[in-house]
Amino acid sequence: MNIEEYFGMSENPFKTTVDEKYYFQSIQHSTAFNKIKYLVDRMGGLSVLIGGAGMGKSMLSRRLIMDLNPDEYEVGLIIVIHTEIKGVWILRQIAKLMGVDSASDADPIGTISKLYEKLYELNSEGKKPVILIDEANMLTKKDQMEELRGLTNLEVQGQKLINIVLIGIPELEDSLKLDPPLAQRVTVKITLGPLQQSEIKTYIQHRLNIAKGPAGLFDEDSYNIVYNRTKGIPRLINTLCYNSMWAAKDLGVKKISADVLASVATNAFSHLGEV
Ligand SMILES: Nc1ncnc2c1ncn2[C@@H]1O[C@H](COP(=O)(O)OP(=O)(O)OP(=O)(O)O)[C@@H](O)[C@H]1O
Ligand SMILES: [Mg+2]
Repeated sequence: MNIEEYFGMSENPFKTTVDEKYYFQSIQHSTAFNKIKYLVDRMGGLSVLIGGAGMGKSMLSRRLIMDLNPDEYEVGLIIVIHTEIKGVWILRQIAKLMGVDSASDADPIGTISKLYEKLYELNSEGKKPVILIDEANMLTKKDQMEELRGLTNLEVQGQKLINIVLIGIPELEDSLKLDPPLAQRVTVKITLGPLQQSEIKTYIQHRLNIAKGPAGLFDEDSYNIVYNRTKGIPRLINTLCYNSMWAAKDLGVKKISADVLASVATNAFSHLGEV
């Protein structure tokens, strides 16, 4: 028997994949969300979302994409999966996401001018282009940064033509330092922090509720342990709760106590070092 059957849930509530239907509007997440929304709405140009691993940056960006009305915004997401990608690849991806065919372009100049035309067209239709670049901390080459700078320079009548939101772990700041003029163009730097202690219970209940799990699964005094062992980092909360469900099943109990959580945390996080 698996934990879904054991606890009578439709699915695992504590998956560590990004699934927008589980989005929880924490104080940190909603503050960051509103700031980005405000910026892209006013064509703020370049902004940066920084947060430690597992804090919910990817979740937030997917939620934002869902929220941006396609009649008003032209939205595209790039996930950087390799440090060696060429700057021109970024340009081509952005062009593609904006509906520009750059496959036959012999050089980047052709792509840039087609992209400019497209952005100009979108601008005259009153549409706001938004490009989110997740895992942007993997951009560690100067040519990658220079390509982005070129794009942030595209303007018409003193107005930016494209919004670019760079998303990544704090090392993203080192990437920006590779190109000081680009770093200077960052309009707003948004930091995403962990959940507050007072939000832990609601977060857990929220996820349990969506997966039709038992509301009283965790003893009241276990939420403090969750906070102490995860410091409010959502991915770690999920991992801890998931492993605790298995432990409860193995013990043949239906409620998770603070003691079970504490011993699961010690085991589950022994490879992490200081959290
Ligand atoms: N606001 C939230 N609501 C619900 N679940 C969340 C939220 N934030 C994070 N999570 C959960 O935590 C896990 C990690 O989130 P996510 O992948 O977005 O983190 P990240 O900041 O992008 O991490 P990394 O830097 O490693 O890419 C996911 O399973 C996600 O479902
Ligand atoms: Mg991520």
